[in-house]
Parts: sequence; structure tokens; C-alpha cells
Amino acid sequence: MKRRKMASIGASAIIMGLLTSRFVRRGRSSGQEPIGIIGAMDVEVDSLKGAADIRKSTEIAGMKFMEGTLGGKPVVIVKCGMGKVNAGICANTLINEFGCSRIINTGVAGSLDNEINIGDIVVSTDAVQHDFDVSPIGFEKGEIPYTGLYAFPADETLRKLAVESAAKAAPDIRVFEGRVCSGDQFITEKEQKDTIVSDFGGMCCEMEGAAIAQACYLNDTPFVIIRAISDKEDGTASVEFETFSAEAAENCAGTVEHMVERL
Ligand code: ADE
Repeated sequence: MKRRKMASIGASAIIMGLLTSRFVRRGRSSGQEPIGIIGAMDVEVDSLKGAADIRKSTEIAGMKFMEGTLGGKPVVIVKCGMGKVNAGICANTLINEFGCSRIINTGVAGSLDNEINIGDIVVSTDAVQHDFDVSPIGFEKGEIPYTGLYAFPADETLRKLAVESAAKAAPDIRVFEGRVCSGDQFITEKEQKDTIVSDFGGMCCEMEGAAIAQACYLNDTPFVIIRAISDKEDGTASVEFETFSAEAAENCAGTVEHMVERL
């Protein structure tokens, strides 16, 4: 009798575990799962962390995942560090360890278009890895071999909300929608920009968005990238970055805060 009761308690625990596991929750999104928010640098996430009610911090792969609420919505905010490997690991962790059902990447970027100035915001239509090049053996530049994948499309609903939120949160700032080009390089020179634009088009360059996009694609998770322009001039982008990145990142974070409240 005692053994049967224990077996029944054990079975119930397993069923409860399965029902509440992240795997099951991700399969049947309730809309209440946390929203993952990724920035690469402190300036890109600090004000969001300040505005959020953080209840728990967990360190994984050297990144601090801050769980809490922002505008009443469950969020996990994390600084991933620079570059595509960090960004991919981070997005995958948000989805598979924290059960995030949507990912927002916020931060700064370099302009790839003369029309787009410092302070303007770019909301991703899609994202490509401009430094992914297996063309010598027959693939398109940027194509992920054997997948047919090249540009990862951002989620329509998140995109629309991001554009509306930018207009509300930062009414004086112009908002553009277009391709985000990511690579493990800080782009400063005209020749680098010209190559990216002639290969991929694109409105801005940064170092994480497309890796987050690929991780989201692989995990069937909607994403959007929202970037404020911190630098534009050929040759002096690094100086502009020093001067403008904090303010640009702040504007971007304001848009994300506004957006999350409405999700
Ligand atoms: N992030 C901000 N500006 C950038 C640039 N010019 N290149 C790469 N990443 C950036």
C-alpha cells in the first residue's frame, strides 16, 4: 500500500514536471512566458534593468540572466557581450533555460545608409551575417550551408509594435525598417561598408543581431532587432561611437520599454 502510494506520488510528480517543463510550455505558448531582452553592452541594458523589477539573477556562460517584470510583463534581461557567438549562446539560453517565447535585441549600430543619421532607429525586417562566406565552394555569401538560409526574417507583430513604440517613446527620432547586417567586426572604413551594402543591402551594421536571429529561427521563436545609430562617418566611426553610443542606446531602450508594456 505504502509502495503503491509512493509510486502514485512519483508518477504525479513526473506528469507535473512534464506539464510545466519549458519544452511543453514553448510548444503551447500561453503568452505569459517571459520576453527575452538582449543587449551586448552595459549601456544597452542598464536603463532597462533599472526600470525593471528584478527578482532573480542567474549566471550561465558568464552572462547574468536577470528575471523579473518590466511594465508588468515577465522579462529576462541580459548583457551578452559583443559578437555573434555570445549572442547566439545567449538567445539559445533565454529560450531553452528560461522559456522565453519572444526575443528583443536592443542596442546601437553603425549606419550603412547616408539617409540614416546618428540617433535614428532601425527596426529589423530581417538579419544577415555579412561575414559568413562559404562562396568559394558554391554557396551564396551569407548563406548558411545546406539550409538554404541566408536572411532570417523578423517577426511581423514584433516589428510593427517596435515601430509604433519608437514613434511614441521617441517622437523626435526617425524610424527606419530594413535589413540588419551582423559580423564579428567593428565597421569603420568606407570599403567595408561598400562591400556589405553591395553584397547584402542593409541599413545598419552591428555584431549580434543575425546570430540572435539564427538562434531564434532554429528554436522557432519570434524576434526583432531594434538598433539606434551611434556612428556613421567613414573612418571616424569609432570616435563617434565613443561620443554617441550611450545616448543612442538609451533611446533604443526607451522604445523597448514602451514596447514590452504593450506585448
Ligand atoms: N555597433 C555600433 N557601431 C558599429 C559599427 N560601426 N560596426 C559594428 N558594430 C557596431
